[in-house]
Amino acid sequence: MNIVLLGAPGAGKGTQAKRIQADHSVAHISAGDLLRDAVSRGTPEGLEARTFMESGSLVPDSLILSLIGGKVGEIGSGFILDGFPRTIDQAKSLDDLIDIDIVLSIDVPFSALLARLTGRRSCPSCGGVFHMIFNPPTVEGICDLCGAELVHRADDNESTVTARIETYVSQTESLITYYENQGILKHIDGNRNIDLISDDIRKVLSHNFM
Ligand code: AP5
Ligand code: MG
Repeated sequence: MNIVLLGAPGAGKGTQAKRIQADHSVAHISAGDLLRDAVSRGTPEGLEARTFMESGSLVPDSLILSLIGGKVGEIGSGFILDGFPRTIDQAKSLDDLIDIDIVLSIDVPFSALLARLTGRRSCPSCGGVFHMIFNPPTVEGICDLCGAELVHRADDNESTVTARIETYVSQTESLITYYENQGILKHIDGNRNIDLISDDIRKVLSHNFM
């Protein structure tokens, strides 16, 4: 089963991807985590990506395609793509590479996103996602999943979040229609409790794959 998660910044893609991964034996491929790893290692891709990410715009398609294409090629089948594709061109490139079974669009009103992102704490080691109020870790500042120290992402400040939402509207939102036209898109109401959203996703996936 190959799944794409669509949604605005802070919609809950990473949070739900970790839960789908725990339920099904699928790999979680997060475009943002791959890029942040490249930035922290100072690779040529990371050096190129950094300015785009800090300003809330998308990195060039060629850069993300080479990172994601490598991962998808390694895994072959059985993955959740989180944060990729984000442009129609990226989606077409993905179509050329592999079949996608289902696209889940996690829908959240933009007015809810800023509080989610400014209060987020992220695990740089395993990609675990927490929130100081909405989803706190058991021990403050420590990842429940792997024990690493949580960080506040550099792009989780008010001005970059605003730019990221604008980027989503101008370049990514049209993918909803793109995948609706392929007949593989399911809308998920993401403006609820995290567990209720997971239950909904479980139902959609079991209905489609079991
Ligand atoms: P990326 O890391 O993918 O960031 P994003 O799309 O902005 O999404 P986020 O990770 O911020 O949010 P999320 O939906 O995963 O939400 P989460 O589960 O963490 O990309 C970063 C940058 O990399 C981009 O800006 C771009 O520059 C570049 N990039 C990445 N992919 C690219 C591509 N394909 N092409 C070009 N450039 C690319 O949840 C958020 C918070 O809310 C957490 O604190 C969580 O605990 C909380 N939360 C989750 N669900 C709920 C809920 N139901 N109720 C309350 N709180 C909740
Ligand atoms: Mg994420």
